[in-house]
Amino acid sequence: MKTLSHLFEGNLAWATAIKKKDPEFFSKLSKQQAPEILWIGCSDSRVSANQIVGLPPGELFVHRNIANVVVQTDINCQSVIQFAVDVLKVKHIIVCGHYGCGGIKAAMDDANYGPMDRWLNHIKEVSLFNAEKLKALKGDDKFNMLSELNVIEQVSNVADTTVVKNAWKRGYDLSIHGWIYNIKSGLLKDLNTCIASSE
Ligand code: CO
Repeated sequence: MKTLSHLFEGNLAWATAIKKKDPEFFSKLSKQQAPEILWIGCSDSRVSANQIVGLPPGELFVHRNIANVVVQTDINCQSVIQFAVDVLKVKHIIVCGHYGCGGIKAAMDDANYGPMDRWLNHIKEVSLFNAEKLKALKGDDKFNMLSELNVIEQVSNVADTTVVKNAWKRGYDLSIHGWIYNIKSGLLKDLNTCIASSE
Protein backbone atom coordinates (compact mmCIF):
# COMPACT_ATOMS: atom_id res chain seq x y z
CA MET A 1 0.00 0.00 0.00
CA LYS A 2 1.23 3.43 -0.95
CA THR A 3 1.53 5.86 1.94
CA LEU A 4 0.19 9.39 1.46
CA SER A 5 -1.88 8.02 -1.40
CA HIS A 6 -3.83 11.28 -1.74
CA LEU A 7 -0.61 12.94 -2.89
CA PHE A 8 -0.16 10.38 -5.67
CA GLU A 9 -3.79 10.86 -6.66
CA GLY A 10 -3.28 14.61 -6.71
CA ASN A 11 -0.14 14.19 -8.80
CA LEU A 12 -1.90 12.00 -11.35
CA ALA A 13 -4.78 14.45 -11.67
CA TRP A 14 -2.36 17.38 -12.05
CA ALA A 15 -0.19 15.71 -14.72
CA THR A 16 -3.27 14.53 -16.60
CA ALA A 17 -4.78 18.04 -16.64
CA ILE A 18 -1.55 19.56 -17.97
CA LYS A 19 -1.20 16.90 -20.70
CA LYS A 20 -4.80 17.49 -21.71
CA LYS A 21 -4.01 21.18 -22.32
CA ASP A 22 -0.59 20.55 -23.89
CA PRO A 23 0.28 16.92 -24.74
CA GLU A 24 3.94 17.89 -25.34
CA PHE A 25 4.36 19.83 -22.06
CA PHE A 26 6.44 17.29 -20.14
CA SER A 27 8.44 16.00 -23.10
CA LYS A 28 9.45 19.58 -24.03
CA LEU A 29 10.34 20.39 -20.42
CA SER A 30 12.32 17.17 -19.97
CA LYS A 31 14.84 18.31 -22.60
CA GLN A 32 15.89 21.47 -20.77
CA GLN A 33 14.98 24.14 -18.25
CA ALA A 34 15.37 27.77 -19.24
CA PRO A 35 13.88 29.85 -16.43
CA GLU A 36 14.54 33.59 -16.55
CA ILE A 37 13.90 34.08 -12.86
CA LEU A 38 15.54 32.93 -9.64
CA TRP A 39 13.11 33.07 -6.74
CA ILE A 40 14.51 33.28 -3.22
CA GLY A 41 11.65 32.91 -0.77
CA CYS A 42 10.60 31.66 2.63
CA SER A 43 10.02 27.94 3.25
CA ASP A 44 6.57 28.79 4.65
CA SER A 45 3.99 26.37 3.20
CA ARG A 46 1.66 29.27 2.37
CA VAL A 47 4.15 31.00 0.10
CA SER A 48 4.47 28.55 -2.74
CA ALA A 49 6.55 30.33 -5.40
CA ASN A 50 5.06 29.11 -8.70
CA GLN A 51 1.49 29.13 -7.45
CA ILE A 52 1.39 32.69 -6.18
CA VAL A 53 2.69 34.12 -9.45
CA GLY A 54 0.69 31.70 -11.58
CA LEU A 55 3.67 30.10 -13.35
CA PRO A 56 3.96 26.49 -14.52
CA PRO A 57 6.99 24.24 -13.91
CA GLY A 58 10.04 25.37 -15.83
CA GLU A 59 9.59 29.11 -15.28
CA LEU A 60 11.16 29.67 -11.85
CA PHE A 61 14.41 28.44 -10.36
CA VAL A 62 13.66 28.33 -6.64
CA HIS A 63 15.56 28.54 -3.38
CA ARG A 64 13.66 28.67 -0.13
CA ASN A 65 14.77 28.82 3.48
CA ILE A 66 13.43 30.14 6.78
CA ALA A 67 12.77 33.88 6.30
CA ASN A 68 14.40 34.10 2.84
CA VAL A 69 17.87 34.85 4.13
CA VAL A 70 20.93 35.26 1.88
CA VAL A 71 24.30 34.94 3.61
CA GLN A 72 27.75 34.61 2.10
CA THR A 73 28.58 31.64 4.33
CA ASP A 74 25.56 29.59 3.21
CA ILE A 75 27.04 27.36 0.51
CA ASN A 76 23.59 26.09 -0.42
CA CYS A 77 22.13 29.50 -1.28
CA GLN A 78 25.40 30.73 -2.82
CA SER A 79 25.53 27.66 -5.10
CA VAL A 80 21.94 28.24 -6.19
CA ILE A 81 22.75 31.87 -7.09
CA GLN A 82 25.87 30.77 -8.97
CA PHE A 83 24.06 28.09 -10.94
CA ALA A 84 21.15 30.43 -11.72
CA VAL A 85 23.36 33.26 -12.96
CA ASP A 86 26.30 31.47 -14.57
CA VAL A 87 24.60 28.39 -16.01
CA LEU A 88 20.89 29.14 -16.40
CA LYS A 89 21.59 32.82 -17.16
CA VAL A 90 18.56 34.15 -15.35
CA LYS A 91 17.71 37.81 -15.93
CA HIS A 92 15.98 38.44 -12.60
CA ILE A 93 16.50 37.44 -8.99
CA ILE A 94 13.47 38.00 -6.77
CA VAL A 95 13.81 37.98 -3.00
CA CYS A 96 10.28 37.48 -1.74
CA GLY A 97 9.45 37.77 1.94
CA HIS A 98 6.02 37.61 3.48
CA TYR A 99 4.03 39.21 6.26
CA GLY A 100 3.30 36.92 9.19
CA CYS A 101 6.65 35.15 8.77
CA GLY A 102 7.32 32.77 11.67
CA GLY A 103 11.08 33.15 11.19
CA ILE A 104 10.92 36.92 11.58
CA LYS A 105 8.59 36.57 14.58
CA ALA A 106 10.94 34.10 16.27
CA ALA A 107 13.89 36.45 15.67
CA MET A 108 11.96 39.23 17.44
CA ASP A 109 11.48 37.09 20.54
CA ASP A 110 14.23 36.51 23.04
CA ALA A 111 13.31 32.85 23.38
CA ASN A 112 15.81 30.07 22.84
CA TYR A 113 14.89 27.80 19.93
CA GLY A 114 18.01 25.66 19.75
CA PRO A 115 20.10 25.24 16.58
CA MET A 116 17.74 27.51 14.67
CA ASP A 117 18.95 30.47 16.74
CA ARG A 118 22.12 30.64 14.64
CA TRP A 119 19.99 31.11 11.53
CA LEU A 120 17.70 33.63 13.23
CA ASN A 121 20.75 35.67 14.22
CA HIS A 122 20.92 36.86 10.61
CA ILE A 123 17.49 38.43 11.06
CA LYS A 124 18.41 39.81 14.48
CA GLU A 125 21.28 41.57 12.73
CA VAL A 126 18.83 43.17 10.29
CA SER A 127 16.89 44.36 13.31
CA LEU A 128 20.04 45.85 14.87
CA PHE A 129 21.12 47.58 11.63
CA ASN A 130 17.68 49.19 11.45
CA ALA A 131 17.16 49.92 15.16
CA GLU A 132 16.44 53.58 14.41
CA LYS A 133 13.57 52.78 12.02
CA LEU A 134 12.11 50.11 14.25
CA LYS A 135 12.27 51.72 17.68
CA ALA A 136 9.11 53.83 17.29
CA LEU A 137 7.05 50.84 16.14
CA LYS A 138 5.21 48.20 18.14
CA GLY A 139 3.37 44.92 17.59
CA ASP A 140 2.32 44.13 14.02
CA ASP A 141 3.70 47.41 12.67
CA LYS A 142 7.14 46.46 13.92
CA PHE A 143 6.73 42.87 12.72
CA ASN A 144 5.69 44.02 9.22
CA MET A 145 8.43 46.63 9.02
CA LEU A 146 11.11 44.10 10.00
CA SER A 147 9.74 41.69 7.37
CA GLU A 148 10.14 44.39 4.72
CA LEU A 149 13.56 45.51 5.98
CA ASN A 150 14.71 41.89 5.92
CA VAL A 151 13.80 41.63 2.22
CA ILE A 152 15.65 44.88 1.47
CA GLU A 153 18.71 43.62 3.35
CA GLN A 154 18.67 40.29 1.50
CA VAL A 155 18.37 42.08 -1.87
CA SER A 156 21.54 43.93 -0.98
CA ASN A 157 23.19 40.67 0.12
CA VAL A 158 22.39 39.14 -3.28
CA ALA A 159 23.91 42.21 -4.98
CA ASP A 160 27.02 41.73 -2.81
CA THR A 161 27.71 38.17 -3.92
CA THR A 162 30.82 37.62 -6.05
CA VAL A 163 28.70 35.85 -8.66
CA VAL A 164 26.39 38.83 -9.15
CA LYS A 165 29.17 41.43 -8.97
CA ASN A 166 31.16 39.53 -11.60
CA ALA A 167 28.11 39.16 -13.81
CA TRP A 168 27.56 42.93 -13.75
CA LYS A 169 31.26 43.48 -14.47
CA ARG A 170 30.84 41.39 -17.63
CA GLY A 171 27.96 43.69 -18.63
CA TYR A 172 25.41 40.99 -17.96
CA ASP A 173 21.81 42.16 -17.72
CA LEU A 174 20.59 41.11 -14.27
CA SER A 175 18.09 42.77 -11.92
CA ILE A 176 17.43 41.98 -8.28
CA HIS A 177 13.98 42.67 -6.89
CA GLY A 178 12.55 42.80 -3.37
CA TRP A 179 8.92 41.78 -2.97
CA ILE A 180 6.67 40.94 -0.07
CA TYR A 181 3.67 38.65 -0.08
CA ASN A 182 0.54 39.21 1.98
CA ILE A 183 -0.75 35.84 3.20
CA LYS A 184 -4.08 37.48 4.16
CA SER A 185 -4.86 38.75 0.64
CA GLY A 186 -2.73 36.50 -1.56
CA LEU A 187 -1.20 39.60 -3.12
CA LEU A 188 2.38 40.64 -3.76
CA LYS A 189 3.85 44.08 -3.19
CA ASP A 190 6.98 45.40 -4.86
CA LEU A 191 9.20 47.08 -2.27
CA ASN A 192 10.79 49.16 -5.06
CA THR A 193 14.32 48.11 -4.21
CA CYS A 194 15.28 46.93 -7.66
CA ILE A 195 19.07 46.86 -8.20
CA ALA A 196 20.36 46.39 -11.74
CA SER A 197 24.07 47.28 -11.46
CA SER A 198 26.89 47.64 -8.92
CA GLU A 199 26.26 51.41 -8.72
CO1 CO B 1 8.35 32.92 6.51
